Amino acid sequence: MALDMTPEQREIGKANFDRSVQELANPPAGRPGMTRRTFMQGLMAAGAAVPLSAAAYFGYGQLHGKPVKAALIGAGDEGGVLVGEHNPDYLQFVACCDVRPSNKRRIFEGEPGSGAPGALWRKGFNRVYGHDALKIRWYDDYRRLLEDKDVEMVVIALPLHLHAPVAIDCLRAGKHVLCEKLMARTVSQCKEMIRAADQADRLLAIGHQRHYSLLYAQAVELINSGVLGEVRHIRALWHRNMLPERDGWRKAIPSEDRSALSAERVRELGYRSIEELCHWRIYRRTGGGLMAELGSHQLDASSIFLGKVHPLAVTGVGLKCYYNDNREIEDHVYCTFEFPGKNYRPDVPLRAANGNPNYNHTVAVTYSSISTNGFESYGECVMGTKGTLVVQNENEALLYPPAFTGRSTSVTVTTQPSGQPALDSWGSGPAPAAAAQTGGRPGAPGVYSRGYREEMEHMAYCIRMREQGMSRDREDLRPRCHGRAAMADAIIALASNNAFQSQRRETFDETWFQDGAALPEWDRTILLPEA
Ligand SMILES: NC(=O)c1ccc[n+]([C@@H]2O[C@H](COP(=O)([O-])OP(=O)(O)OC[C@H]3O[C@@H](n4cnc5c(N)ncnc54)[C@H](O)[C@@H]3O)[C@@H](O)[C@H]2O)c1
Repeated sequence: MALDMTPEQREIGKANFDRSVQELANPPAGRPGMTRRTFMQGLMAAGAAVPLSAAAYFGYGQLHGKPVKAALIGAGDEGGVLVGEHNPDYLQFVACCDVRPSNKRRIFEGEPGSGAPGALWRKGFNRVYGHDALKIRWYDDYRRLLEDKDVEMVVIALPLHLHAPVAIDCLRAGKHVLCEKLMARTVSQCKEMIRAADQADRLLAIGHQRHYSLLYAQAVELINSGVLGEVRHIRALWHRNMLPERDGWRKAIPSEDRSALSAERVRELGYRSIEELCHWRIYRRTGGGLMAELGSHQLDASSIFLGKVHPLAVTGVGLKCYYNDNREIEDHVYCTFEFPGKNYRPDVPLRAANGNPNYNHTVAVTYSSISTNGFESYGECVMGTKGTLVVQNENEALLYPPAFTGRSTSVTVTTQPSGQPALDSWGSGPAPAAAAQTGGRPGAPGVYSRGYREEMEHMAYCIRMREQGMSRDREDLRPRCHGRAAMADAIIALASNNAFQSQRRETFDETWFQDGAALPEWDRTILLPEA
C-alpha cells in the first residue's frame, strides 16, 4: 500500500499508529482538556498496543448456555477458513453440505493457507473436533439439511448466485443465517433476504469481517478523533499477480470431482458445466467480478472511515485485457467514487450548476483491482489535511504526518489548547513529553484477528441472549454487519460493475439503500438466464 517506503519508515509508521491509539485510549492524567475516551477504556492494558479483548470491544461476553448448533453450506476455500476460525465454545458445527467430493475430504482433513498475505490455515473438522468430527452429519442437498431440527444457525459459503435463494430458504426454515459476502447477486435479492429475516424473526449477518476487526476499529477511532484533520481522499486497492497458471479463481478441477459429478448432476445443481460450478467467480451468472469479490471489502472500509455514508456517484473502467480464456468478468477494474464529505449538504443538488459549491464538499475514493501485478497488495490509504493513515493486508496500520517528508517522522497524539486531540510530530529529536510519558514507542504491534472468529462468536452470543429474553431492539444484540448494512456494500459493488459496463457515471439514489421497493434500473438486467 505504501509505494516506496523503506523498512525503517514502515516501522516508524507502525509505531506511530500504535502509540497514537494508545494515547487516545489512555491520555496521561492531568492533560488539560483531554476527556478520557470511553471507547477503549478498559480495553487497552496500560502500555499494550492491542486491546485485550475483542469481545469486550464489540460488546459481547461469554456465551450463556450451550454453544449454538450450526451447519455449514459450502465447504470450499472460505468454508474451510470459517471452520478453522470458529470458536466451539460459542458455535459447534453439527452438519455440513457440499456437492464436491474433494471439498468434503478437505473440510474434514484441513490444509495450510496459501502463503498469500493474511491467508489462514484451514484446520478442518478433524483437527477441531477430534473423534467427534465423525458425528457431523453430511448432506449433499441443502434442502435436506434444513429439515435437520438440531441445526439452529447456518453458515453459507456458497457461490454468489446461491446466497439469496439458499439464505431465504434457511430463514424460512427457522434458522439464523450468517452468509458470506457479497450479500447477493442483485439489489432486489438483498431486499428479499432482509424481508425474509424480518418475517421469520431470525438473525441475518453477512460476512464482511472488517466489521469485527480490532485493527479497523482502532483506525476508525483514530479518524473519528479528528487527528487526521479533514479527510479529502481515500486510495484503496487490491492488486494481485495472478498469472494464468496460478489463477486461484480457475484452479485445476480435481479428478475425483470430474468422475463423481456427471453432466446430468451438474445441470441438476443448476450449473451449465462443471467449470461453472468450480470456477463460478469468472462467470457473470454465478459471480459478481472483482468489485464483488475484492472491491466490496475496501469500499465497505472506506464507507465506514467516512462515517458510514453511502457514495453519491461512481465512474469506472473495467477491462478484460489479460486472460485469454472464456471468462466473462473483468480482470482489471479502476473506479472513482464521489462520497459526501463532512460539509456536504444532501439537500443541495450535487450538480445544480457549474461551480456548485456543494460539489466541492465531496470526497474522492479511488479503487483499483488488477490481476497482473501484486505490487502494494491490498488496503486503504486515508489522506487527511493533518495526517495519513494506511491500513494494509488486514494486519497492520501505519500513521504519518501529511507531508512527503513525514515518512520518517515520529508522531503521537497530544492535546490542543481547545482540548481537541492532535498529531504532534518530532523528527529525529527528543520525543514530546506525552510520548515520553507513555514510554515512547510501545512494544511490538500485536497480531490482529481478521474478524472471522469474532463475527461468529457475536452471532452465537446474540442468538442466546435474545432467547433469554434480552430486548431484540438492542443495537448490540444484532450482528454488526446485518442485512441492511451489507446491502449497501452490495449496491456499491453492483453499481460499479454497471458504471464500467455501461461506460457512464452512475449516481446512487438513497432510496435504493432503504427498505421498500426502490431498485436501480440496472438491477433487472443483472440476472442472466438460468443454466
Ligand atoms: N469474507 C471473505 O474475505 C471471503 C473470502 C473468500 C471468499 N468469500 C466468499 O465465500 C463464498 C465462497 O467462496 P469460496 O472461495 O469458498 O468458493 P469455493 O468455490 O471454494 O467454495 C464454494 C463451495 O460451494 C459448493 N457448492 C456449489 N454449489 C452448491 C450447491 N448447490 N449445494 C452445496 N454446495 C454447493 C462448491 O462445491 C464449493 O465447495 C463466496 O461468496 C465468496 O465471495 C469471502
